[in-house]
Amino acid sequence: MQSGEREVLVNVDQLSKRYQGDWAVKDVSFKIQHGTCIALLGPNGAGKTTTLHMLAGLLDESQGTIHFHNKQNDFRKSIGFLPQQPQLFGWMTAEEFLNICGQLSELPKANREARLEEVLKFVGLKDVRKKKIAGFSGGMKQRLGLAQAILHEPELLILDEPVSALDPTGRREVLELIREMKKKMTVLFSTHILHDAEQVCDQVLILKKGELKWNGELEQLRSSMEELTIQIKTKTTLKNVFQTGEGILHVKEVADNEVLLQVEKGYDANLCWRRLLEKGMDVEYFNANPVTLEQAYLEVLQK
Ligand SMILES: Nc1ncnc2c1ncn2[C@@H]1O[C@H](COP(=O)(O)OP(=O)(O)OP(=O)(O)O)[C@@H](O)[C@H]1O
Ligand SMILES: [Mg+2]
Repeated sequence: MQSGEREVLVNVDQLSKRYQGDWAVKDVSFKIQHGTCIALLGPNGAGKTTTLHMLAGLLDESQGTIHFHNKQNDFRKSIGFLPQQPQLFGWMTAEEFLNICGQLSELPKANREARLEEVLKFVGLKDVRKKKIAGFSGGMKQRLGLAQAILHEPELLILDEPVSALDPTGRREVLELIREMKKKMTVLFSTHILHDAEQVCDQVLILKKGELKWNGELEQLRSSMEELTIQIKTKTTLKNVFQTGEGILHVKEVADNEVLLQVEKGYDANLCWRRLLEKGMDVEYFNANPVTLEQAYLEVLQK
């Protein structure tokens, strides 16, 4: 389904936050569509936490608005939030901690126990539910943090750097949980690692120095780069095989049997293959160098 077809859950309009004269977030506007998983990307100090805190209702905006679909007043009950550095009380057991979170989020007593059971199982902490949090590994703590964020079945789950502090195994586990959670709720998470975003999200927002530099689908980000280069080397001459036109912007003859083609964005490299086959060319080397997401991300950050 195209993201454009989905119902809008949150509308953020010209959101800004100023600290002592400096803008931490400036004129940020975007929509969160129901059922999507969005990554908020950006380097340290870009304004990710500030944006997420305003969305979670933990920080007042200096300017702009956040409109949570048809909720006029307090939308915080519809949100689950995992802070960048969650404060988990080490002296409590996982079960005690979640019980208190359940009370704070006004989870009805009648189904609190069953919900706790379900969530502990989901995050893989069922067997350690009676263990003190102080003895948990970083990955276990992060999974407990996720458990408290989803306990009250929020419509929108906001996670601030959920995997940044984890080792590769913990990272994979938490990303896997996010992948499961996004089937049930809308997810917005921040990260400064593009690879995390690539694994689970549909849409990316890129912040730099408080300003939104990109808002769109991952594929759009990749294809937003202007050009693609195709390098071809054959056993025989390549003279007059490729000309400019029909998507080919420039033909550079590196050698008699080697060319570098500069092509338009969205160009189908198979067309070159077809040409070579038609001419019966013996291909030694063919490299269509598609833009990686990482390159596209860095390009956006350089703007
Ligand atoms: N309470 C505060 N008082 C003053 N300035 C602040 C405050 N909180 C954040 N800032 C500033 O706002 C800017 C954005 O900070 P923020 O924590 O939102 O960035 P971030 O993208 O989450 O960074 P990181 O990747 O390091 O977590 C930074 O320049 C930061 O110094
Ligand atoms: Mg942050």
